[in-house]
Amino acid sequence: MSNIQVLATERQIRQAVRRIAREVSRRYQEESILLVGVLTGAFVFMADLARELYRMGMTDVEIEFIDISSYSGTESGQIRFDRDLTVPISGRHVVIVEDIIDTGATLAFLLKLLEVREPASLIVVALFNKVTRRVETLPSERIITGIDLPNKFVVGYGLDRNGKFRHLPFVGIVAS
Ligand code: IMP
Ligand code: MG
Repeated sequence: MSNIQVLATERQIRQAVRRIAREVSRRYQEESILLVGVLTGAFVFMADLARELYRMGMTDVEIEFIDISSYSGTESGQIRFDRDLTVPISGRHVVIVEDIIDTGATLAFLLKLLEVREPASLIVVALFNKVTRRVETLPSERIITGIDLPNKFVVGYGLDRNGKFRHLPFVGIVAS
């Protein structure tokens, strides 16, 4: 068993997901929205957020995933694009669902990629945020974040280290 120092508890995460869902439902109210999850890390957040939106009265919600990863280890901000959306987004209200913002490179790439497809609107919800690591400038008015984290490599709630720990219901740092 690995020793894990908890940085965000299940309860804190639940509250942050609710806060984000409230903000999304306030912005879009009666609109139809398309949630675009960034694989793989966003799968847990997506599942919880989507159901929270239903509880808040949003019924017109569609879900898609896009597969993009950044080589965060190299600091190069290089992006690997593995799988595109399966539907057009022109004229749609699109909400990118991301697990964590670190340098901002992944989101900068994604915003550019999707913007040219002319969605009616395009915002980002990211559950975790490493504020001090930002390299790319992101449009803050279009980004909703949940929990700020220190500049440490974290795992859990979808986030992995070498493919492991995504299934932890909380977020923390692996001791060894
Ligand atoms: P960015 O492009 O530097 O903002 O990095 C964002 C992506 O890197 C996220 O979508 C995650 O997949 C991954 N990532 C960043 N920080 C961590 C971490 O602490 N643990 C696990 N994955 C991370
Ligand atoms: Mg990612």
